[in-house]
Amino acid sequence: MEVWEAIFKRRSIRSFRDEPVDNNLLIKLVEAAIWAPSGSNIQPWHFIAVSCEEQKAKIKPFAPGLTGMPPALLVICTDLALCERKGGRLGRDVLSLMDAAFAAQNINLMACELGLGTCVIRSFNQGAIQEILRLPPQLVPQLIVSVGYPERVPQAPKRRSVQEVMSWERYG
Ligand SMILES: Cc1cc2nc3c(=O)[nH]c(=O)nc-3n(C[C@H](O)[C@H](O)[C@H](O)COP(=O)(O)O)c2cc1C
Repeated sequence: MEVWEAIFKRRSIRSFRDEPVDNNLLIKLVEAAIWAPSGSNIQPWHFIAVSCEEQKAKIKPFAPGLTGMPPALLVICTDLALCERKGGRLGRDVLSLMDAAFAAQNINLMACELGLGTCVIRSFNQGAIQEILRLPPQLVPQLIVSVGYPERVPQAPKRRSVQEVMSWERYG
């Protein structure tokens, strides 16, 4: 699949077939994630793959943004202590979030290539997820990506036009 095709074809998938995702595919997604750009090349991320029903059931009540029950979740965490040590306040407050977002988009696009569907989720209780995953205090869950084989691919939500969101040389 060409990159442009994945960019336009990718949708947030919220309903999945009842079919497990092979661990090797989850590893492939994380391989794609670690090749994302990273501010100051800190690479502060840690990825937790969650496929076990019991663990997913613990997460579900603390993640209102998670629709249904996908076969797998990839929790993208960033190490804020490492970010601060290497990048100061900018590293801790800004780069850590951006690195998680870039990693998530690489996961999205690679998933598209592999015939998988994903949805990036930010609506969850960070403290609760931190506890359930037994993360050390410096490792903060920034995004959850649900992963599975799409049952239904929704229509593309409307986009604002390029003309509306783009200016040349200065605003307006
Ligand atoms: C930072 C971020 C947070 C998001 N959080 C959620 C979420 O909590 N739950 C959800 O169902 N979708 C979430 N989404 C997915 C968006 O709703 C989705 O990308 C948007 O509606 C556009 O649809 P598309 O991804 O199919 O193009 C999130 C997306 C981003 C980028």
